Amino acid sequence: MINKISETRSIFDNDFLQISDPQSLEELRIKYLGRKGIIQQLFDEFKEIPRDEKKVVGQALNELKNYIQSRYEELKAKFEEEKSKQELLFDVTLPGRVKTIGSKHLITQTLNEIKSIFKSLGFSVYEGPEIESDYNNFEALNFPADHPARDMQDTFFINENFLLRTHTSPVQIRLMKSMKPPIRAIMPGKVYRNEVISAKSYCLFHQVEGLYVDKDVTFAELKGTLVAFLKQFFGKDVKYRFRASFFPFTDPSAELDVWWQPKGKEGRWLEVLGCGMVDPNVFINVGIDPEEYVGYAFGMGIERTAMRKYGIDDIRILFDSDIRFLSQF
Ligand code: PHE
Repeated sequence: MINKISETRSIFDNDFLQISDPQSLEELRIKYLGRKGIIQQLFDEFKEIPRDEKKVVGQALNELKNYIQSRYEELKAKFEEEKSKQELLFDVTLPGRVKTIGSKHLITQTLNEIKSIFKSLGFSVYEGPEIESDYNNFEALNFPADHPARDMQDTFFINENFLLRTHTSPVQIRLMKSMKPPIRAIMPGKVYRNEVISAKSYCLFHQVEGLYVDKDVTFAELKGTLVAFLKQFFGKDVKYRFRASFFPFTDPSAELDVWWQPKGKEGRWLEVLGCGMVDPNVFINVGIDPEEYVGYAFGMGIERTAMRKYGIDDIRILFDSDIRFLSQF
């Protein structure tokens, strides 16, 4: 019987190793310590053995029982502790946390919309660098040497020859130098001006440049394209006007205004873009024959366009990163 007792102990040890949760522990308890369990059976057998063996066997049997009992209690305590720790960590009565998903910035959304409208009108999209040469930003675009825009007041110069571009028009120069007409492209990006920050202007903003160069491009086509854009972007009933204007790199030149009527305020014309026919001097600067080719160009301010569309009256809010504003779009 002594052998049987030590065999039982090693079988128990083996069973015990398999236990990983409170339920299988309870099953183990019933198997060994239950009323009809293995220990009870051994005690039943114990009654039958000869008297002179009783002392030794009885001791071994009691030891086995105590051993099993204490291993069981140990593990049970451990499971209980784990359970109460988990309950501390996880309060099922707390309300759930809502995941908030970010959204694209209003300027990005507006740019994407403008891009997709012009793509549908047959324009490709190109980008140029924000640090530009004085040559591409001014000289190649036919700005005379004493033009006021070259003044330190308006331009962030990096050194004598380089600056932060003040408009996206230098990308026209890059395109016309690197590809042959016909060219039909838009060029979105950031531009910089050394201006006093106010509700109407900021030192940084976005433009989309447009350029179409081919053999027989007309001003009427320029107007038609821009009006088609306006109607898609602002809606069929948009009120607009072309106004004669001046840019060194276009001739004739115009500005396009859109009627702006914020709720409860007086309406006014809001200038959204400049445009015109590419000046022959610009063609000469990039090596395109002005006798053979004509072209139109336009440059649109994205912030103003977005402000007009969404009824925003202070440009600064577009650069503030205020989530209460941004999450409305
Ligand atoms: N570059 C001009 C500006 O920043 C806009 C413009 C672009 C005008 C192309 C005519 C043609 O104001």
